[in-house]
Amino acid sequence: MPQMETVHISVLLQETLRWLNPRSDGLYIDATFGGGGHTAALLKASAPNGRVIAVDADKTALQRGERRFVAEIATGRLTLLHGNFRSLGSLLPPETAAQGILLDIGLSSDQLSDAERGFAFQTEAPLDMRFDPLAGPSAAELLTELSEEEIADILFTYGEERHARAIAKRIVQFRAEHPVTSTGDLVKIVTSVLPRRHDEKIHPATRTFQALRIAVNGELSALRDALPQALNALTAGGRIVVISFHSLEDRIVKEWMRDEAKNCICPPSVPVCVCGHTARLKIVTKRPETASNEETSFNPRARSAKLRAAERI
Ligand SMILES: C[S@@+](CC[C@H](N)C(=O)[O-])C[C@H]1O[C@@H](n2cnc3c(N)ncnc32)[C@H](O)[C@@H]1O
Repeated sequence: MPQMETVHISVLLQETLRWLNPRSDGLYIDATFGGGGHTAALLKASAPNGRVIAVDADKTALQRGERRFVAEIATGRLTLLHGNFRSLGSLLPPETAAQGILLDIGLSSDQLSDAERGFAFQTEAPLDMRFDPLAGPSAAELLTELSEEEIADILFTYGEERHARAIAKRIVQFRAEHPVTSTGDLVKIVTSVLPRRHDEKIHPATRTFQALRIAVNGELSALRDALPQALNALTAGGRIVVISFHSLEDRIVKEWMRDEAKNCICPPSVPVCVCGHTARLKIVTKRPETASNEETSFNPRARSAKLRAAERI
């Protein structure tokens, strides 16, 4: 059963507010509503007239939000939209010109603690892992359809799992007998390759679960697709803030911001510019911001968070 109230603690909340600097006549987009913590802070800081459009692929998160923000929805200050930020441009009203946009990517603690969703290796559940349970194949279906090599690539690339090949091989052996359908099946497979040592801080299945989740939700390609659409939805002087939790995601954000801040993105081998690209962004965080020791002490999830912000020119 999903929790009635959110258990998610928003990451880098003060830093997000500092960069977005909400004002009372502003429009803000929260592309990853989750538990609604950032949305709540944006609504408060932009009171009495500021507006927020919040998006999430997960209907359960939005239903929780509908109960939490009854008044703000009724007065038109908050609009909740169901959809994938991969298609942000078509989800938002035409000609949206927002003062700020936030992407706080990955999964929420609400999803992790919902035993039925299959994100957590600690609880027995169907191996699903989709942010939107009606979109695309589940983790169990992926493990049925993909080749041993494709599974190994996913575990190695998204989970940095050194034993990716051995785990993939064991998955394929297992599924020859019966399909991998539950979190318990996958934990059994991983621990048969990497037995759990009592001195280990991280459970051996952590990397495998993370990698599969990223693959199931196409998280890297969704981010790549969303960034230019987010920029298009900003007014001049509006800011984009992205919080990521994985080095591959942070690299996508960093390289995209760097390119959008340049007047030419031709490869160095091209002597005269042929791309015609003009800078549309000014990067405002020289280095990514990370959580303070104080924040990580009450929210360990914040440890891997990196925040980058930029301003539309
Ligand atoms: C880290 S949580 C956001 C938490 C939120 N900022 C808060 O303070 O409560 C990430 C949320 O983004 C959603 N999400 C992740 N990828 C998405 C995508 N491609 N499209 C739409 N929502 C997505 C997840 O369903 C999840 O609810």
